[in-house]
Amino acid sequence: MAKIGIFFGTDTGNTRRVAKDIASLLGPDLAAKPVNIRNAGVEDLLNYEFLILGAPTYGEGELPGLATGNATESWAEFLPKLEDHDFSGKTVAIYGLGNQKSYPDEFVSAMLYLYDSFKKCGATIIGGCSTEGYKFKLSKAVVDGRFVGLALDQENQKDLTNERLDAWLKIIQPAWA
Ligand SMILES: Cc1cc2nc3c(=O)[nH]c(=O)nc-3n(C[C@H](O)[C@H](O)[C@H](O)COP(=O)(O)O)c2cc1C
Repeated sequence: MAKIGIFFGTDTGNTRRVAKDIASLLGPDLAAKPVNIRNAGVEDLLNYEFLILGAPTYGEGELPGLATGNATESWAEFLPKLEDHDFSGKTVAIYGLGNQKSYPDEFVSAMLYLYDSFKKCGATIIGGCSTEGYKFKLSKAVVDGRFVGLALDQENQKDLTNERLDAWLKIIQPAWA
């Protein structure tokens, strides 16, 4: 079985496309086929030692899900199910999609909810990134001056996504190498 599970939430497909890119960059021996979080249970995530989790931000700095007008359930419905589950010994890397121009006060904020929830369950979170190269005012996902994961903006900085992904995967790769 592949070592790395990739789970994502999405409404309009951007976060799924990035999940697929990550899977093909890692290759099928390392990474399992990405799964939409609305089709996953907590046990599916617990099958893996390493997890890469992707979330777009919706509403004003919120998780995707029915309450933020998404067409389907997503992370907002999944995260409450995590309570009392033990993710100690698991390593989690988070990426988030957002729009820094339209939502400069809540850019990629949803990453924080994943960060907080999985940390609370005992997971080790890796893959925090510098805020350099982005133009925004505020983000819940900035902790101690750094993003808690990889921030991507397909609306305004699509041309930077591939190089950001490459650099990020190189940084987190020692976790499973
Ligand atoms: C109604 C709406 C609300 C959004 N709110 C935010 C937000 O608060 N912060 C942010 O960074 N991006 C926000 N976005 C931008 C999305 O996160 C971005 O378009 C993302 O790429 C969508 O991912 P998806 O295609 O996987 O659903 C919002 C987009 C929409 C349509």
